[in-house]
Amino acid sequence: MQRIPLIAGNWKMHTSLAEARALAGAVVSACKGLTDREIMIAPPFTALATVAEVVRGSQVRLAAQNVCWEEQGAFTGEIAPSMLRELGCSMAIIGHSERRQIFGETDALINQRVAGAMRFGITPVLCFGETLSEREAGQTMAVLERQVRAGLSGINVVEPASMVLAYEPVWAIGTGKTASEEQAQEAHEFVRNLLLTMYEKSIAQQMRILYGGSVNSGNVDALLHQPDIDGALVGGASLKADSFERIIHFRQ
Ligand code: 13P
Repeated sequence: MQRIPLIAGNWKMHTSLAEARALAGAVVSACKGLTDREIMIAPPFTALATVAEVVRGSQVRLAAQNVCWEEQGAFTGEIAPSMLRELGCSMAIIGHSERRQIFGETDALINQRVAGAMRFGITPVLCFGETLSEREAGQTMAVLERQVRAGLSGINVVEPASMVLAYEPVWAIGTGKTASEEQAQEAHEFVRNLLLTMYEKSIAQQMRILYGGSVNSGNVDALLHQPDIDGALVGGASLKADSFERIIHFRQ
């Protein structure tokens, strides 16, 4: 049983169209010839069409940073899964802590997004993670369990590659404070065991769980060396071509 590592770049609310084109071009070049890992980039919505042209025909998968569950209609500010598919997007980040914390997205809403994405063949990258105060209060595993169970509520996963999870401890995002390999592995192992109670063994064992939170070229190898860390969701370091190239070329 082999999980193919996934290196994902979340560009958040960064990049002009010119910057997006250049960065995507650098990512395409950086992963030429790599066959033992998958690469994904998630530009802002405004740059998706531009980046789609650059990555077309390459192994780089295009992702959105969010997705609605409806096909069309009166949902101001939202983007339908079919609109993303039209652009060549095959993945979408859902439930990022910035969506949860700044924009008030709830577990129930996030679950709807996951269901909607899957209905249209878009692979969700479902994010979850505890805040610093939750960790300090000893609630980490309870928070992870709640977010994962709620996010996946009613979701039938038939093909393990069609669902990606991402553990992103909120205190490690954009702070330069990475979870230690042991802290990350402990959380990933907990979630793996949780998945084993929710899905058939062959499915739960094959679903990928990424780690995100201050991943950089210096810590990626040690993190991905852990048995239940199947890839990285990278913010800041994915905006610099040279550091993201090194992350793509991680050595386990
Ligand atoms: P940083 O890598 O900048 O900490 O961001 C992580 C993240 O939120 C990726 O989704």
